[in-house]
Amino acid sequence: MFKPRFARRSLERYRKRGLDRLERRMVASIAGSGVDGATVLEIGGGIGTIQAELLAAGAATGQVVELVAAYEPYARELASEKGLGDRTSFVVADILESPDSVAPADLVVLNRVVCCTPDGVELVAAAALLTRRRLMLVYPRDVWWMRAGIGGMNAGFRVLRRSFRAFVHRPAAIAGAAEAAGLALTESGHGVGWEFATFGPAA
Ligand SMILES: C[S@@+](CC[C@H](N)C(=O)[O-])C[C@H]1O[C@@H](n2cnc3c(N)ncnc32)[C@H](O)[C@@H]1O
Repeated sequence: MFKPRFARRSLERYRKRGLDRLERRMVASIAGSGVDGATVLEIGGGIGTIQAELLAAGAATGQVVELVAAYEPYARELASEKGLGDRTSFVVADILESPDSVAPADLVVLNRVVCCTPDGVELVAAAALLTRRRLMLVYPRDVWWMRAGIGGMNAGFRVLRRSFRAFVHRPAAIAGAAEAAGLALTESGHGVGWEFATFGPAA
């Protein structure tokens, strides 16, 4: 599913359009909480667009951790185009199996990753344990049109004999996983199909 062609298209789309509206809102949601000098970890980050934007906004260093190595050359290309090549790195690992493969970071991002695995809630729990200041999530809304759309997409994958499936996880379970690690919701918002939630240390 996430092959070099997909990675190249992600880079081309980002070059043309930048972040989408919801991603921009999520990045803006942490602007007041101190991006300057922060370390960033983008889990399932693909080409690492969010960490690149946070580095451009003043964060110190960023790391993309990915199951799929095919993203790496495109993530490097994006980072060097933005003049961030010496401040960003790429690690191939499964964060559920090897959470110790990366160090905790101030800002941790899961952008459209929770929906890629039946273990999406466990992934949030693992990400929350790696979060020092803010955990930022984008995931599909638990509404009938997203459940129907993702169900239809999965039927298509079945017909094409692809093993990949997408999932809509309950927002309460997602929030619960972050809260169990001592985080509390600081901001959230949504578009038609997707929502973002930002968590920080509980008071
Ligand atoms: C739909 S893509 C999103 C990529 C990127 N965040 C974006 O928005 O363009 C989901 C990514 O999550 C990665 N992923 C899923 N589970 C993971 C895990 N346990 N550890 C690391 N990466 C994971 C997949 O390899 C895939 O590239």
